[in-house]
Parts: sequence; C-alpha cells; structure tokens
Amino acid sequence: MVTGPSGGVPLGGVPLVGVPLVGVPLGGVPVGRWSVGPAREEELDAVGTVTAGAYLADGLVDADAWYTDELRDARGRAASARVLVARSDEGAVLGTLTLAPAGGPLAEVARAGELELRMLAVDPAARGRGVAEELVRTALERAVLEGRTVVLSTLDAMASAHRLYGRLGFRPAPDRDWHGSGGIALRTWTWTPPQGPGPEVERVTWPPLRTVTTPSGWRVGLSEGLTRRANSALAPQDDPAAALGPQVLDEVEDVFAAAGLPSVLRLDGAAGRPGGATAGMLRARGYAVRVTTLVLVTDDPLRAAALAVGRDPAPGGEDGSGSGDGDADGGGPGVPDGLDLSGRPEPEDDWLDLWLGEKAGVGTSGAGLSRAAAARTLLSGAPATYLTARRAGRTVGVLRVAPAGSWAALACLVVAPGERRRGTGRRLVAAGLRHAVDGGAERVFLQVEAENHAARRLYGRLGLRPADAYRYAERPAGDRRGRGAPAILA
Ligand SMILES: CC(C)(COP(=O)(O)OP(=O)(O)OC[C@H]1O[C@@H](n2cnc3c(N)ncnc32)[C@H](O)[C@@H]1OP(=O)(O)O)[C@@H](O)C(=O)NCCC(=O)NCCS
Repeated sequence: MVTGPSGGVPLGGVPLVGVPLVGVPLGGVPVGRWSVGPAREEELDAVGTVTAGAYLADGLVDADAWYTDELRDARGRAASARVLVARSDEGAVLGTLTLAPAGGPLAEVARAGELELRMLAVDPAARGRGVAEELVRTALERAVLEGRTVVLSTLDAMASAHRLYGRLGFRPAPDRDWHGSGGIALRTWTWTPPQGPGPEVERVTWPPLRTVTTPSGWRVGLSEGLTRRANSALAPQDDPAAALGPQVLDEVEDVFAAAGLPSVLRLDGAAGRPGGATAGMLRARGYAVRVTTLVLVTDDPLRAAALAVGRDPAPGGEDGSGSGDGDADGGGPGVPDGLDLSGRPEPEDDWLDLWLGEKAGVGTSGAGLSRAAAARTLLSGAPATYLTARRAGRTVGVLRVAPAGSWAALACLVVAPGERRRGTGRRLVAAGLRHAVDGGAERVFLQVEAENHAARRLYGRLGLRPADAYRYAERPAGDRRGRGAPAILA
C-alpha cells in the first residue's frame, strides 16, 4: 500500500450537475455571468468556505475532519500554490482549484515538470454551468504556458469528474495510483498537451509579405507592421531551439531597423518563459514580452462544430431569435434570426474593414502600401476562405480558414462590438470548422492571446485544447535602433 505524504483527499471531483444541498451554508449564489482568474486576497476566506462546503455537500469529508480544516484554509495554501477562482460578475465565489507545482508543500504526487491540480470545488448552487471545466481548462493553459504536464488524484466515486477529465484529454495512470489516510484508494490521472501544428505549419497559413534570412538563419518577417505574426523574427527552420545571442540580435535588429520597424522576436518553448537566461539577456537589451500566445487545437473539428451549434441561443432567447448556422460555403439560405453566413476565396472590403477595425492603430509602417492594401496582400499569401456573417445585409462577423496539409487554421475572428454575446462568434467558428473538414482537414488550430479571456472561453467551450505557447519579445520604440519606429499592435 502506498501512502501519500499528507494522505488527504486531494481533489474534489465534484459532480457537474445539481446536487442537493445538505446543511451547507452556501447556495443562493448568482451565476449569471462569471469568469475564472487568480484568487484575490479578499476572496480567500470565501474560497475556503466554498471548498469545504462543496466537499461536505458531496459527503467526501466530515465536518470535524482535519482535512476539512485544510480545505477551508485557502489563505494557507495561497502561500505556496496558486489558487484559481471562478467568480460571478457580482463578486461571489462559485468555485476554485489549487495549482500546486512539483516540489511544493501541496504537491502529493507531482514529479519534476508537473503541475498538480488539487481541491477542485464548485458551490453546489453553481453546478451544471461548466464552472469546474473552465477551472480545469484554465489550469491546463497555465501548464502549457509554463511548459509543464499535469497530474491529479481522484476517487473512484467521482464519475462525473472522470468524464470531465476524459473530455479534457486526461488519461488514467494506474501505475501511479496510491492510497491516502485510512487506506482510501486514489486514482492518478495525467495530462500532456496534444500535438500542436508547430511554427512552420503556422507560418504556412500566415506568410509575411517579405522574409529576410539573416546570416545566422533567423527569418525576419516584414509586412508593413501588420500583425506581429508577420513582423517578427523566427528561429532557423532546421534549428528551432537555436540560441539567441548578441550576434543574432544585431543581425535581426539591423533588418527591422532598415524596414523602419521595431524588433520583434517570436520565442518558442523555454526561450520565452520568464526567469530563463534568454529572458534576462533580452531584458538587459531593452526587450519586453508584449504578448503571450496560446495555440489551441482540436483533432475532432466536427464535434467542436456540433458543440458550437448545440449552444446556440434558444428561440426567444436574449436576442429573441432561433438558432441555425447557415451555409458557410456558398451564401445559402438565411437563418431564423436573420444571420447569414457565406464564404469566399478572397476578403471583401467589408470583411477587411471589420478585421482591421479590431486592429485600430496597427501598421502600416508608412513605407508604401495603404493599410487595406497591405492587409489584402498579406492575407492573399496563403490560400484561405473568408467567412462573413451578415445581419440585414450588414457585415457583423468575420473569420478566415486556411488549410495546411492535415491542418487548417482559423484566424481573424471578429464580431462587431454591438453584436457580441448573441452567438455570432460561435456560429462563425462552427462554420469554419465544418469548412475546414470539408476541405480535408483532420485537425484545426488557432492562436489566441493568453489575455483574451472572451475568445479563450469561446474556444475552450468547443473543446479546443491548449497545445503550445509562444511569446513575442519586443523592443519598445525609442530604444537604440528601434527609435521612432511605430509599435506593432496586433
Ligand atoms: C471573441 C469574440 C469573437 C466572441 O464573439 P461573440 O459573437 O460575442 O461570441 P458568442 O456570442 O458566440 O459567445 C460564445 C461564448 O464565448 C464566450 N464569450 C464571448 N464573449 C465573452 C466575454 N466577453 N466574456 C466571457 N466569455 C465570453 C462565452 O462562453 C460565450 O457563451 P455565452 O454567451 O453562452 O456565455 C468577440 O468578443 C470579438 O470579436 N472580440 C474581439 C476580437 C477577438 O478577440 N477575436 C478572437 C481572436 S483569437
């Protein structure tokens, strides 16, 4: 029999559907709109109450057990682990999850390089809304950002939680099962990120207008400042982990300076992570990480599309409309709420206007092309389909679908600000996923900024999983050779 160091019940795999509330002082929590983020200091007492309350409600602990006190002590665990919280827009704590790095006092089974998930708990009054899933998915994103894999322990009785873990890509690791105090059997599950497309496939779907290869083999994309993706330096194709030294930086900076653009480096893997030697060297040279990007993937695009459509607003919902997803391929019949989806091999002017409107202030560098012309030329660098959502003839949403071998990339999703939260984004993504499959794609990826909570949530709810992460380090305009250069904002 194996006994873990602290021998507790490590993870409350709470059911995701309503559980009767038995003598638990919770309930009555408003659960309209909510979000997940790091717990704030002033929330920690409520986090403890929700954690202990959820375990008590499920009969996983007794009120006077030592472990119940441990569950209640969110303040204590926040000192050595990260505590995530799901909070309603009104500020009520709906659920929580603790992220314990290997080697820390809260890690029970984590090995080097693993992040251990512990004490998942959702207030019984807030169940059935995907709170637990959002908490776990956020933890997976954190793990990918940090280059870690994930581990957790659970009880046989937690069937709903097992379904959740399975859906998110966890797999049982029976050789790591263990026994806690009182001989309680704990099952270990692990998660490793799914295979991502990698920088080369990503680049095929979004090639820069011009690429200059430096003597060291770094490829500097130059596209009039329009999008970081097409205006950044990428490591050599045959040596993606190539070290970044002063000579490489000199070469890259010269290319950007000659183009009148700030230096932007795409840093994959450990190179971009805070704390590493590269990060220190870049900071000393005036660079700062401006954006962290997650690569999300699905190897079941049709399921993701079905999930998207299944969550369409019900007839008579917020917008008083029905559901439907139109015909993304040929501008087919309209749908009950008047949203019409169509696809073309080139972006129309309205398509470009909406996409560029989201990137207000971005490029061009002033070197030549107008912004719209630069955008059109940039986009036409790879074959793609441009989906447009129209309502009453007005363009209200856009999306680009670009094939690359067995992959397809979704990009440029924008919904007009006045049209958000009515299902347009979901329906565009559903149409894009189906279009990708019709075109022969087996897997679909997209890139999303780690800070873009709305988009991450949209994609996450469709089952897209974090596979990879990279950062853009940028030397602010006004520094050495970057002086006076326009910032790249997208
Ligand atoms: C992200 C974006 C495309 C979403 O479009 P949308 O039409 O509002 O999305 P939907 O109405 O289909 O929302 C679907 C789900 O996404 C999530 N979501 C969307 N907006 C959200 C927000 N502001 N906060 C939290 N979740 C949000 C929700 O889970 C939502 O489902 P719900 O309304 O049932 O809770 C839109 O906010 C947008 O254009 N943002 C600016 C451009 C951008 O960030 N694009 C993504 C680039 S990767």
